[in-house]
Amino acid sequence: SKRIVVLISGSGSNLQAILDQCAAGDIDGQVTAVISNRPDVLGLSRAEKAGADAITLDHKQFEDRAAFDAALAEAIDQYTPDLIVLAGFMRILTKSFVDRYHGRMLNIHPSLLPKYPGLDTHQRALDAGDHEAGATVHLVTAELDGGPLIAQAKVAISEDDTVQTLNRKVLAQEHHLYPEVVRWFCSGRLTFAEGLPQLDGEVLQFPYLF
Ligand code: GAR
Repeated sequence: SKRIVVLISGSGSNLQAILDQCAAGDIDGQVTAVISNRPDVLGLSRAEKAGADAITLDHKQFEDRAAFDAALAEAIDQYTPDLIVLAGFMRILTKSFVDRYHGRMLNIHPSLLPKYPGLDTHQRALDAGDHEAGATVHLVTAELDGGPLIAQAKVAISEDDTVQTLNRKVLAQEHHLYPEVVRWFCSGRLTFAEGLPQLDGEVLQFPYLF
């Protein structure tokens, strides 16, 4: 069984979906710790309820990004995780931090990457008149939201969609998408030889589409 550490900044609904599948035995892994850079968020209580260590590392208490990332790495390494899962973690990470966990750190981003890295993805999709939106799970590299893509889920955008309705629709897809990718990793189906995502031994040229 794989050891997983999840990093969050907020509600943790993706974290919950992963916790549920671990508890059900659908993911052959265990979330041993959840670390939030914001105090008192809902995700931390979700972690406690599930029996994981719930840790707050408030970035405002640190001098700079490097100091925060060093403390974060120290906290993570105590759990010797096989996998680090960013689930609504809203901090940019330094290159040395990202390099340390190369090939074992995943992120979920609320857009159809490579479209719309960064913030306000749903607003940008609406402003562009896009007909679809979605979410992407990717390997984390030093380039913000720029690592190799693993899997995507799409939703249709309708005329009356707003940022809120789109967010709700995309999140619902994320709750299927992210646990599935974590399940692949924990079962050994998803590997990262030479930093390239492979599913069942085949390099993923395009993200797996849900
Ligand atoms: C999710 O929509 C996730 O894709 C997004 O934050 C939300 C977290 O929701 N992540 C990012 O924007 C990363 N830059 P959750 O806390 O309920 O899982």
